[in-house]
Amino acid sequence: MIIPKGFVKGEVVKLKQWTHNEFSITVNANISSYTAGQFTKLALLDSNGEWLRRAYSFVNSPNHKAGPSNMEFLIINVPNGSLSPKLAKLTIGDEVYVGDKPSGFMTLAEIPAKVSELWLLSTGTAIGPFLSLLDENETQTRFEKIVLVHAVRTKAELVYQTLIKKLLQRYAGKLRYLPIVSREQHPDIMSGRIPELLKNKRLMQAINIYPQKHNSFFYLCGNPAMVHDTRDILIELGFEKHLRRSPGQFSFENYW
Ligand SMILES: Cc1cc2nc3c(=O)[nH]c(=O)nc-3n(C[C@H](O)[C@H](O)[C@H](O)COP(=O)(O)OP(=O)(O)OC[C@H]3O[C@@H](n4cnc5c(N)ncnc54)[C@H](O)[C@@H]3O)c2cc1C
Ligand SMILES: NC(=O)c1ccc[n+]([C@@H]2O[C@H](COP(=O)([O-])OP(=O)(O)OC[C@H]3O[C@@H](n4cnc5c(N)ncnc54)[C@H](OP(=O)(O)O)[C@@H]3O)[C@@H](O)[C@H]2O)c1
Repeated sequence: MIIPKGFVKGEVVKLKQWTHNEFSITVNANISSYTAGQFTKLALLDSNGEWLRRAYSFVNSPNHKAGPSNMEFLIINVPNGSLSPKLAKLTIGDEVYVGDKPSGFMTLAEIPAKVSELWLLSTGTAIGPFLSLLDENETQTRFEKIVLVHAVRTKAELVYQTLIKKLLQRYAGKLRYLPIVSREQHPDIMSGRIPELLKNKRLMQAINIYPQKHNSFFYLCGNPAMVHDTRDILIELGFEKHLRRSPGQFSFENYW
């Protein structure tokens, strides 16, 4: 077997099943250095001997205790998907191929220096890169307020509760966590979708934080329909897309 160009062999060292179709996998591989918020590719052979490769975001910061060569990914097994059902079948000790050159711009370096309030808006598995960013000491020291929003269909998909509790303690009041569930009703969890909850200000009211143009910045990540609709609302609210040549208040990463 010839390893595809730009990939190295990795080994599955840890697995955690969150729901029937959502899991985290830790892979040990020696790839080039990466930055919190970035992603790399995972690859496996299909039954015709063709390589399937897809992008997956790091959940851990490269500075975590287990070292940068132990990389954790949060993955959903997409019904009828090509690669994710194969990843879902991996067990400890199995081989998986990892892209050697991580990439992505949803990093701390891309956030304008004047920002003191950071909003991290995610759906489904896209909470992963935000957990990676939150694991960085720089995030803790640089911002005064951080709001982590995680929108999922059901409560069972509110993953990483233990880690989030630890982060809330570590950030000592600077970090606010806002879970949202869309297809169930729970008395203690907000229900709905991110764009409407921004538009009617229920997200802001829940934590009494109101983003402003001069010091706030939003990262949007996950379902492209959420990204699209949220972008429209943020523009309606007076915020602008961030470009290096023309600094704005929001930036995004679509998962498909
Ligand atoms: C920058 C980037 C980072 C990504 N990071 C992750 C990650 O950390 N975890 C992860 O699970 N996926 C992530 N993805 C999506 C991932 O690359 C694959 O698209 C996904 O695993 C489906 O691959 P597949 O071959 O099984 O399905 P395909 O046969 O390629 O089917 C694609 C379809 O699956 C659905 N889909 C894809 N990704 C998701 C998702 N995350 N949640 C819900 N539905 C989805 C969409 O309907 C999409 O049209 C990322 C994508 C990008 C571009
Ligand atoms: N079987 C099917 O018919 C079907 C359909 C879609 C996806 N899927 C698959 O099921 C899996 C579930 O993925 P997932 O639940 O992690 O991801 P998801 O479908 O992206 O849902 C995550 C969250 O995003 C919300 N969302 C969807 N569109 C939005 C929009 N335009 N604006 C704001 N929020 C929006 C969802 O709300 P809502 O609950 O209100 O949508 C949900 O709360 C995926 O594998 C996906 O491919 C299956």
